[in-house]
Amino acid sequence: MADQAFVTLATTDSYARGAMVLGKALRNNNTSKKLVALIGPHVSEPCQSVLKRIYDEVKLVDVLDSGDTAHLAMMKRPDLGVTITKLHCWTLTHYSKCVFMDADTLVLSNVDELFEREELSAAPDPGWPDCFNSGVFVFRPSVETYGKLLQFCTEHGSFDGGDQGVLNGFFNDWATADISKHLPFIYNLSSIAIYTYLPAFKQYGGNAKVVHFLGKTKPWSYTFDPKAKRLLGGEQEFTSHPTFLLDWWTLYASAVVPMLREQYGDQPFHSGCVEGEGSFSQEVKPQPSSKERKEQWEQGQADYMGMDSFDNIKRRLDTFLK
Ligand code: UDP
Ligand code: GLC
Ligand code: MN
Repeated sequence: MADQAFVTLATTDSYARGAMVLGKALRNNNTSKKLVALIGPHVSEPCQSVLKRIYDEVKLVDVLDSGDTAHLAMMKRPDLGVTITKLHCWTLTHYSKCVFMDADTLVLSNVDELFEREELSAAPDPGWPDCFNSGVFVFRPSVETYGKLLQFCTEHGSFDGGDQGVLNGFFNDWATADISKHLPFIYNLSSIAIYTYLPAFKQYGGNAKVVHFLGKTKPWSYTFDPKAKRLLGGEQEFTSHPTFLLDWWTLYASAVVPMLREQYGDQPFHSGCVEGEGSFSQEVKPQPSSKERKEQWEQGQADYMGMDSFDNIKRRLDTFLK
């Protein structure tokens, strides 16, 4: 269907890798829909090139930011203000209907049947099931709706600082009006649910069609040994079900890393894969210059998992205090 598309968003190279895996998984499961990636200007050239090989359309958008530190702090996710950028998906008016999917989701089978649903269809949020989770939703692009959403943001803000708060405020009858707009949980199985309701996961988890690596720790927060098919967690806890994480890494290592290698050419890059042959030690993560880092901070693009992690900031503050 040329006028229907799956849409995702990536404003950083890390999320772009998530988008690459998601796009590959959609293709491997023979979707008949178009694939669109919205990207921010900080996604590097090589990553943009890989996205262009996987997606039908890669669209550069302005990074919007709620700047709502108070609400974001409540969620312990200072990085999620930029998720408001997701609202740009309503401007894709050359499609009549779309399914938005977070870059940290992975499809496990063909989910084209989602296009039979209407705006705004989504699955319940595991933390507050009267809200929908905005990691997977069906929508109809419309300049009018986009305008109204922005106006809603300006007038009411977002109760969680990110897009999910805005969207639940705007589509505020989702919980009660029309049960057909409630997607089954198997279309947005948050990895968190595995721990909060293990017996249900054991009973129904095998039917999962989309897994969502919701939360601070993402698949790309780990490293992976492809030969041993083993995840190396470092200091981070394993917050997702290891099987889904392995699915993500197996697809990333086999289908995405070769494309990244081609696009990076002689430039060093860190695939996240630790390989016996010592290729890991050859891969060095490029350090941004302090000017680039400053610019990224100003754009709200701190490297929270790396150089700008809480531990590093605390260490720096401790040296001043001493
Ligand atoms: N996102 C992004 N850059 C960011 C943070 C988020 O592009 O710095 C996009 C990406 O598509 C991501 C979505 O916004 O999947 C929502 O953020 P995230 O998945 O981290 O939120 P969670 O599902 O963990 O609450
Ligand atoms: C959520 C959703 C995510 C959204 C974020 C911020 O937990 O999973 O898609 O961007 O909240 O509102
Ligand atoms: Mn997500």
